Amino acid sequence: MTDDADYRWNHRHILAIESLSARDIRFILRTARGLEEVSTRSVKKVPALRGRVVANLFFEDSTRTRVSFTLAASRLSADVVDLSGKGSSVAKGETLTDTGRTIEAMGVDAIVVRHSLSGAALSLSRAVACSVINAGDGQHEHPTQGLLDIYTIARRLGRDDFDLSGLTVAIVGDIAHSRVARSNVHGLLKLGAKVILVGPPTLLPRGLADLGCELAHRFDDVLPRIDVLNMLRIQFERIGSQQFPSVREYAHFYGLNRHRLRKARPDVLVMHPGPMNRGVEIDSDVADGPQSTILQQVTNGLAVRMACLFLVTSAART
Ligand code: NCD
Repeated sequence: MTDDADYRWNHRHILAIESLSARDIRFILRTARGLEEVSTRSVKKVPALRGRVVANLFFEDSTRTRVSFTLAASRLSADVVDLSGKGSSVAKGETLTDTGRTIEAMGVDAIVVRHSLSGAALSLSRAVACSVINAGDGQHEHPTQGLLDIYTIARRLGRDDFDLSGLTVAIVGDIAHSRVARSNVHGLLKLGAKVILVGPPTLLPRGLADLGCELAHRFDDVLPRIDVLNMLRIQFERIGSQQFPSVREYAHFYGLNRHRLRKARPDVLVMHPGPMNRGVEIDSDVADGPQSTILQQVTNGLAVRMACLFLVTSAART
């Protein structure tokens, strides 16, 4: 697939991969590839966003996403303000919209928001004039994680045109509560991959089959067909009632250990968005083994988030 001559990026926000086209996704990933090299320089900065301000507004816990956005913004020379639910006026009852408008009134160009409510990023984007990037909204989407996962797959498998046709990707585990799964599904399908969702029936929402995914309950049966395994964390904090008999039983049927990995293709890629429950969905020898892309995902996240910040703020200027 070549660069489309008539293509023009025009998104002021990145809220969900569902609302991006395949061309949009490829354009973001190509931009990320161009920016990847900045992080290898001794002076890790370009002036692309000099004089611009990015605000991180995180109402849920986060390590890698938050740090990744902060570093991405500073590598583009933007100023970064870091706010969290705790310690800000939100703890005093201020609404997300009021907090967003207040920050914007101080001259912010982009707000990166994480919130436990699905749809929070969309409603914030309607309330402010600056750009909004969704860093995870409830169980809905986590678009930059989906983009960095797809970027990692394409880079590792030499798909320089970001066309994933012919590849089979399994997303395994707690699909029901995973915004990472939803973003991956939309992006992977748009770029031509086949997606198999694997997990116990209680953690696999039927609706995703309508998008064109295959659903499977028996991990071992599908393993030999898979090119990429994306192992998800059990979202214990979002699971209301018990949805599987025990963690031990879950690990037995769905955990990726070295014995199970032997049933897969020898060159299968192993991914995990982090944070990992080692010994539950993935064992340490697999997570730290040669097929794992886990740290590469973290590194690639920087370039992808640099691309997202750069693109949304450039759309806002035109
Ligand atoms: C994910 C998240 O917060 O949605 N983590 C991340 O951003 N890397 C996945 C998770 O919490 O399991």
